[in-house]
Amino acid sequence: KNIGIIMGGYSSEYEISLKSGNVVYKTLNPEKYHAYRLHIFSDKWVYVDDNDREYPIDKNDFSIRVDGEKVNFHCIFNAIHGSPGEDGYMQAYFKLLNIPHTSCGMYQAALTFNKRDCLSVLKPFGIKTAESYYLNLGDTVDEEAIVKAVGLPCFVKANRAGSSFGITKVYKKEDLQAAVDFAYKEDNEIIIESFLDGTEVSVGVISYKGETRVLPITEIVSENDFFDYKAKYLGESQEITPARISEADTNKVKELAKKVYEVLKMTGFSRSEYIFKNGEPHLLEINTVPGLTQASILPQQAQAAGISLSELFENAIEEALK
Ligand code: DAL
Ligand code: MG
Repeated sequence: KNIGIIMGGYSSEYEISLKSGNVVYKTLNPEKYHAYRLHIFSDKWVYVDDNDREYPIDKNDFSIRVDGEKVNFHCIFNAIHGSPGEDGYMQAYFKLLNIPHTSCGMYQAALTFNKRDCLSVLKPFGIKTAESYYLNLGDTVDEEAIVKAVGLPCFVKANRAGSSFGITKVYKKEDLQAAVDFAYKEDNEIIIESFLDGTEVSVGVISYKGETRVLPITEIVSENDFFDYKAKYLGESQEITPARISEADTNKVKELAKKVYEVLKMTGFSRSEYIFKNGEPHLLEINTVPGLTQASILPQQAQAAGISLSELFENAIEEALK
């Protein structure tokens, strides 16, 4: 089967995505799948062969032409973090072309990528979240109102972004404006959230052999002020799987993550982040195209569950083809 691995994307996360995509490419069993690396950038969509030669992708049917032969894909492996792979655009495009793809559907991607909307859809289901405050580009930054709503310290985040790009932990109200300006580099919507002081855990949920499977959970211990870009990618954190929390708390957050996955009718990969406050897990966000390198959290969790990287990726393809 021809598998097109899409990677890159239009956001700050493109480098992480190229890493994830290349790991998928190297891991897929060549006897089973004919994998193609497909770079999706705002200025070009190309197939890149092993000699780094580039061939344009025909956007009419997402096919390529190699040595005069047309190649169509049986399945797309989505390794694009951020836009347009994690926010529903590619999902909608493949749906229109009737090409199966890994990762969830268009609606789930669009919803979960929008932190504000996702959290507000989940609240009526009893999912706890931080206190929050929203801003759109052009809105006045009313420091008093923000502090009243979320307190200090607080987190200023781009509403639609990943890998901690655009996030600042703010301690003083005088620093809010600069943090907001920084977040606007990633998105024109901003979410400001109260600081939840407690243990942070990451919970992977996948569709595995036809069932919803919750993987062993990971405790995040950042050496920095929070789980920022450097903590995530430059080793300035410890990721401990399984998390060192009680069995009761482990079960509680696993059940919650499963409920969220089912309420939102998710498919494919998901990795959500929770912070325990007063014994209750509070949801921060859901990633539907989580990092997929060996060092990334979801692959570590799968390995802790006895699922190898190649099994994890193959399963994603087989689930998508069902
Ligand atoms: N957004 C990054 C890639 C993650 O969630 O792993
Ligand atoms: Mg994220």
